Amino acid sequence: MSYENSARIINDDIFDLVNETFSREKSSRNIEGRVNFFDTYKNYFVLTDDGSYSINSKEINHKVETLHTSTGAISESFEKFIKPMKFDYTENIAVLDICAGLGYNTSAAIANFMKNSKANLTIDMVEISKATLACGLLVPSPIPEHNITKKAIENELIMQDYATLSLETTEIPENISINVFIEDARQTVQKLDDNTYDAIFLDPFSQNMAPELFSLEFFREFRRIIKNDGIIATYTSSAPVRAGFIEADFYIGLGPIFGRMQGGSLASPNPEMLDWSLPKNDEIRIALSDVGIPFRDPGLNNESKDILNERTLKRQNARHNTKISSAVKTPIFLGQKMNDEKLKRRVERNLTKMNIPSTTSPQAIYIVEVEDDYRKKQDFENNSRNRILEMKKRLKKVKKGEIKF
Ligand SMILES: C[S@@+](CC[C@H](N)C(=O)[O-])C[C@H]1O[C@@H](n2cnc3c(N)ncnc32)[C@H](O)[C@@H]1O
Repeated sequence: MSYENSARIINDDIFDLVNETFSREKSSRNIEGRVNFFDTYKNYFVLTDDGSYSINSKEINHKVETLHTSTGAISESFEKFIKPMKFDYTENIAVLDICAGLGYNTSAAIANFMKNSKANLTIDMVEISKATLACGLLVPSPIPEHNITKKAIENELIMQDYATLSLETTEIPENISINVFIEDARQTVQKLDDNTYDAIFLDPFSQNMAPELFSLEFFREFRRIIKNDGIIATYTSSAPVRAGFIEADFYIGLGPIFGRMQGGSLASPNPEMLDWSLPKNDEIRIALSDVGIPFRDPGLNNESKDILNERTLKRQNARHNTKISSAVKTPIFLGQKMNDEKLKRRVERNLTKMNIPSTTSPQAIYIVEVEDDYRKKQDFENNSRNRILEMKKRLKKVKKGEIKF
């Protein structure tokens, strides 16, 4: 089965209905199918708390995700993807919207830009599924600027002979250019020019559903195509994702919290674009434990399950060799006195395998004293990336017995 057919996209029922609707539009040249779609199939859309609609994903391993948070689909776009950006509105702006879905992130970017700038905006939207983009034409627009996005999507779907009629009446403003790539984002990024984007929105399904869109190799392409002051925003707080950004030579920072317990992740080649450090324990786990092993996709063409399996193997091999076991969250106890004797035994069993005799041993203190300088507000010197790399280096020295304590 080709990757396009197995990719994690929208729920099969709505997928079929949308395809049928556009196929009928082609044969009948009748507008009714599209115009009545939402009222007829409203039950397939998921109403979120801010009044905007989402849809469910395909069922994968008995799990269904919605395309957006239930706290508010369009609010999520503004909160997680637009707010952390530091656009210079006097300059032209270029945005890459990966996993464009219904086009909400693009629409939020357009709304923000139109409010603040008279310069030019280019948005490259990338989405693997025509039916999902077509859903963007069928859903009620949550903000007026979504009609601009709809026009761009419709143009591309007509070009690709999926849609037939031109029903979107909103014009795309002259200073806004929107390109729609309908393909695997891993193929698209390889075609994009160096040093191009001020912002990259990374909005796939979760890492277990779509690890191929969070891999180190994918991020290395981002490093090539992003400008030095550019920012990548993604909603996930996952350790392998953050570790991947660091290995791909990015600085990382904490993204906004919205509809989740933890903040998302931001990455930039320039640390001064990122205000907030990751939480301390996240830094420690990424630096020292096997959860900080990123997803790998060397040819940018592997299947999700192979990427997950390969990482599981790598984690097993790294445990007690180059990384502290992540079991019972061992690394976060470094430098701490522990009262729970049973837990302490388990933690110290893992630590001794890395030449760290106990949680309060000089070796343990040496590794985590890097965190003594922790500041929430980060800058050029004092930031999550630098601390993570320093702790990694120290763990290596301790394990190799290079330092006498
Ligand atoms: C969480 S949703 C994105 C929601 C979207 N940003 C919006 O504003 O509506 C994830 C999207 O990723 C798309 N997708 C899955 N695999 C992909 C791939 N390899 N390349 C590009 N898009 C992909 C899915 O079809 C789905 O629309």
